[in-house]
Amino acid sequence: MKRILSILSIAGMMAGVVLVSLAGSPAKSKGEAMATLESKSGSTVTGTAKFKQKGDGVEATIEIKGAKPGQHGLHLHQNGDCSAPDAASAGGHFNPDNKAHGAPDADPHHAGDLGNITIRNDGKGKLKITVKGLTVDPGPHSVVGRAVVFHADTDDLKSQPAGNAGARFACGVVKAE
Ligand code: CU
Ligand code: ZN
Repeated sequence: MKRILSILSIAGMMAGVVLVSLAGSPAKSKGEAMATLESKSGSTVTGTAKFKQKGDGVEATIEIKGAKPGQHGLHLHQNGDCSAPDAASAGGHFNPDNKAHGAPDADPHHAGDLGNITIRNDGKGKLKITVKGLTVDPGPHSVVGRAVVFHADTDDLKSQPAGNAGARFACGVVKAE
């Protein structure tokens, strides 16, 4: 119950922040979206993800902290639902074209395959990648309404269906700005 109350109060604060930012700045242009990643599966990993329309693709900028150094799989998953403690609610990789899993620049790959992010010794990492075939605007390939998932292990970019990247350590729902 205490936990539910604190979640409600955080939600209330976030709503307040949104109202303040709407009031304090001119309306943002379309073509941008973001996600705030929360810890899952008992991890300490958190982060942010920003998405911008860039020509026929989307530029994703993902920043992670509180993670173990090394390479970690990162994907857009089908469902914008991070409610499960292990983020299983996010479903499988975002795959509107029914393709096989792979590297983001390989053919084939899931539309949601973002490859790996490198975490430094300080537990932080940043990945900036432009992925063709995704959009921020509404449509079958839109990132909005999907979930960004950071994994415990490295995505080997070939195992099916998800690169053998292990547990889901952080998850955030992508929302239009
Ligand atoms: Cu994933
Ligand atoms: Zn995949």
